[in-house]
Amino acid sequence: MCGIVGYVGTREASELLLEALEKLEYRGYDSAGIALICDAGIVIHKTRGRIADLRRIFDEATDDDGCTVGIGHTRWATHGEPSDVNSHPHLSKSKRVAVVHNGIIENYIELRRHLEQHGYTFSTETDSEVVSELIDYCYSGDPVAAVRKAEQQLKGSYALGILFSDFPDQIIALRKDSPLIIGLGEGENFIASDIPAILKHTRNVFRLGERELAVLTAQRVRVLDIFGNRVDHPVDHIDWDAAAAEKGGYPHFMIKEIFEQPEAIRKTLAPRIREDLSIDLGFKRLTDEDLKGIESIKITACGSAYHVGVVAKHFLQKNLRLPVEAVLASEFRYEDPIVDEKTLVIIVSQSGETLDTLYALREAKARGARTVSIVNVLASSIANESEEVLYTWAGPEIAVATTKAYSTQLALIQLFGLHMARIRGNLSEEEVKSQITALQKVPEGVEKLLEDVKSVQYIASLYFNCQDVFFIGRNMDYALSLEASLKLKEISYIHSEAYAAGELKHGTISLIEDGTLVIALCTYRPLLEKMISNIKEVSARGAKVLAVINESDVQTGTVADHIIRIPECADIALPLLTIVPLQLFAYYIASLKGCDIDKPRNLAKSVTVE
Ligand code: M6R
Repeated sequence: MCGIVGYVGTREASELLLEALEKLEYRGYDSAGIALICDAGIVIHKTRGRIADLRRIFDEATDDDGCTVGIGHTRWATHGEPSDVNSHPHLSKSKRVAVVHNGIIENYIELRRHLEQHGYTFSTETDSEVVSELIDYCYSGDPVAAVRKAEQQLKGSYALGILFSDFPDQIIALRKDSPLIIGLGEGENFIASDIPAILKHTRNVFRLGERELAVLTAQRVRVLDIFGNRVDHPVDHIDWDAAAAEKGGYPHFMIKEIFEQPEAIRKTLAPRIREDLSIDLGFKRLTDEDLKGIESIKITACGSAYHVGVVAKHFLQKNLRLPVEAVLASEFRYEDPIVDEKTLVIIVSQSGETLDTLYALREAKARGARTVSIVNVLASSIANESEEVLYTWAGPEIAVATTKAYSTQLALIQLFGLHMARIRGNLSEEEVKSQITALQKVPEGVEKLLEDVKSVQYIASLYFNCQDVFFIGRNMDYALSLEASLKLKEISYIHSEAYAAGELKHGTISLIEDGTLVIALCTYRPLLEKMISNIKEVSARGAKVLAVINESDVQTGTVADHIIRIPECADIALPLLTIVPLQLFAYYIASLKGCDIDKPRNLAKSVTVE
């Protein structure tokens, strides 16, 4: 949700910033801009559109060669439409202060009024413009003092990169509730919303803490806390293969990431399963005794991560015989949740920065709940703030539509469930071992599904022009339908809805007409006959039915128009396999429609606003 970057060093800042913004474009891509400190002062280039558009206007306009300090921004609009004027960076009217901002300034109207009373004027509809003017208002020669004074008046979330024309050799960075990393180079330093932006230049990074301020020059980075005390952060060395953040010959990141799933699941599970099939989660605070004492579980997350929670609810409830609830993080925080020290709250997030999810975690902790997060991004806010963290080792996920993060989250939460079931004595040792073995076989099953994508491509070619798609399923299959439906709609813009199969006839069936595509997930064996009845009901009203079935299922194929078979596997593996052809289906439909698959309209990868 907006990407910010900054460079201070001896190299040409403009090219470096533009390249870094390309790597952050997944965070938002409706407008972009850079600010450079040049001989003439702060120079801004910004435009509505993508980084490619920014490059074009920069190449046409620039005589800013030789500038070695700058900040950049790629925007996902919240306040004010995507337009040239609303794009960042924002330069104060005095031309002394330029700001890039990720987050939302919640009290911007009040601050704006206050500044207007002191003669300040505003030319954008954004909340962010108030930051550059407020810092300017607080400035009387000391940039750090000005930023600290301004910060005390800001409400909301912010990661900020700030330039002062009077201090042409430095960048100031500040953050609260929005991510920001500092990259340390040789004679140069960086700020960025995420690691891929600067991976080409440095692998030595640390995350700026909550409400910390950093002053970066080419030679040095100084970090201060809210009280002005010096803070030292240990530096992480990022050992990602830089190629992991490249397309590697695939036309889109999404398809590359779909194909990376077997390896990602292997990497996530293997380090936690010992040879004797015992499980080592590496917990330091939550003891086995604590887990035995848990009386209920809540899983909270957003989007696809929430869908992981809905699948996991079924799995955990069945295996632990505890009340388990999946709750949208944006609702959890405000519903006065009933949680206490006997409640385990599981927080699921690829980015570890989703603001609603972060706030849900804080709410849970404030009420005394025990917390475990399942996160992909190392040392992200959610990882740092939860009591225990289980990392999914999926590698960088760049496509906005999640695939490998979803499947690794699911595999990991299932492994965690087996660990709890073993400790609490819900399952026999033999049963736990057989389920762990089944989980270990998932990567092979996914590989098998990915060997033959032709049948999915063919079905996609029949339906890519359709207007509406309904997904139906029961129990675990319904939970999976939610994700399959989201995948399709977010990248192909086809209207789709997921329904518990028994629920469709309570209203929505009125939308089924001749040729409507209904995708029926029929892998949950105990309710197969009921699903067949539901297929008959929609077929009788003219629907075309694509059924996703188990390999051994000989009945459903006779009532559906098309089938996709899932290789024979244990129940625990079913959701992890079943989602794969549905991810592919969404991908091929979107590809046939010519959609911008990795960057669907209106979306951003990391949602750091409420
Ligand atoms: O980074 P998170 O896992 O917390 O993100 C949560 C959702 O924003 C994310 O899953 C979103 O729904 C994806 N676009 C789905 O493909």
